[in-house]
Amino acid sequence: MSASVPRDYRRFLARASFIEMSARERARAILDAGSARELLGPFDRLKSPWLPLQDIVAQADDGVVLARGTLDGRPALVAAIEGAFQGGSMGEVSGAKIAAALELALRDCERDRPIWPLLLLETGGVRLQEANLGLAAIADIHAAIIALRAHVPVVGVIAGPVGCFGGMSMAAGLCSRLIVTRQARLGMNGPEVIEQEAGVSELDASDGGLIWSLIGGEQRQAVGLADDLQEDDAAAIAGAVRAAFARGPRRIERSAQVERFTARLAAIQPSAPLDAKLLRSLWNDGATH
Ligand code: COA
Repeated sequence: MSASVPRDYRRFLARASFIEMSARERARAILDAGSARELLGPFDRLKSPWLPLQDIVAQADDGVVLARGTLDGRPALVAAIEGAFQGGSMGEVSGAKIAAALELALRDCERDRPIWPLLLLETGGVRLQEANLGLAAIADIHAAIIALRAHVPVVGVIAGPVGCFGGMSMAAGLCSRLIVTRQARLGMNGPEVIEQEAGVSELDASDGGLIWSLIGGEQRQAVGLADDLQEDDAAAIAGAVRAAFARGPRRIERSAQVERFTARLAAIQPSAPLDAKLLRSLWNDGATH
C-alpha cells in the first residue's frame, strides 16, 4: 500500500496531523474513542533520577505514555514515545516502562487473553545521558517484542519528526508490521552522528535530500524495511494500525529473513556513494512475506 499525492486538498487540509500530536494525543487518537486509560501517568511521578544530576529537568512521565484501551473492541496496549522530550530517547525509566508493559501484555497473551501491542516510535535511541541503563532497557524491549510475536502481531508506527534511531530502530525492525509516513526516518545512527564518526565523505549530514532519500519513510517502505506508507493523517494511521493487526501474524518475520537482508548488504559497493534509486533496484526482490 502506498500514499498518493493528495488530490483532494480540502480533505487533506481538514485532516488531523498525527505528527503534530503529543505522545498522549497520539495514543488517544488511535485507540477506540473513550477507551484509553493511562498507566503510570505523570501523577505517578516516575522520573529519571539521572537527568537532574546532569542539570537537565526531568519529566514526570519520562517521555513515555502507556495506555490500555481497545482497537475495534479488542484489548490493546499503546506505548507512545514523546519525541519532544530529550529527542524521545530511552532512559532507564522510560525504557523500563515500555519493557514492563510489553511483558505484562505477554503474560496476558500466555493466559489466552490476547492484547494487541502497538509502539508509537519517535526516538533518538538510547538516552546518551543514561548510557548502559537505557541500553539494558532496550534489550528488554527487544526480547519482549520477540516473545509477543509468537502470540499476536506487534505493530510499530514511525510518524516523525524525530524518526526512529539506535537500538529502537532495531525494535522497529523486530515489529511484525511497520507503518511509516513520508516524514519518518529510520536508521541505526543519526546522520550527524555518522558524519562526526566517519567523516563528511561518508555522509554529508547537511544534504537533506540525500538523507531523506536514503532513510526516509518512502524509501524504507519501497525497499521492504517498512510495510505501509501513510499520509500524516491521524484517521488514516489509526485505520492502518487496525488493518495491520487484522492481518494477523507475519508468515516470516522480517528479522528472520537473514539471508535476504545480508545479500542486500553484499550488493552495496562501500567505495561508491550511496544512491537511493540504485538501492531500490538492487533490493527489489519482490518478496511479500
Ligand atoms: N540521547 C539524548 N538526547 C537525544 C538523543 C539521544 N539518543 N537523540 C536526540 N536527542 C536530543 C538532542 O540532543 C536534542 O536536544 P536539545 O533540544 O536539548 O538540543 C533533541 O533531542 C532534538 O534532537 P536534534 O538533533 O536537535 O533533532 P534533529 O531532528 O535534527 O535530529 C536525530 C534527530 C534523532 C536524528 C538526532 O538527534 C540524532 O542523530 N540523535 C542520535 C541518534 C543516534 O545515533 N542514536 C544512537 C544512539 S547509540
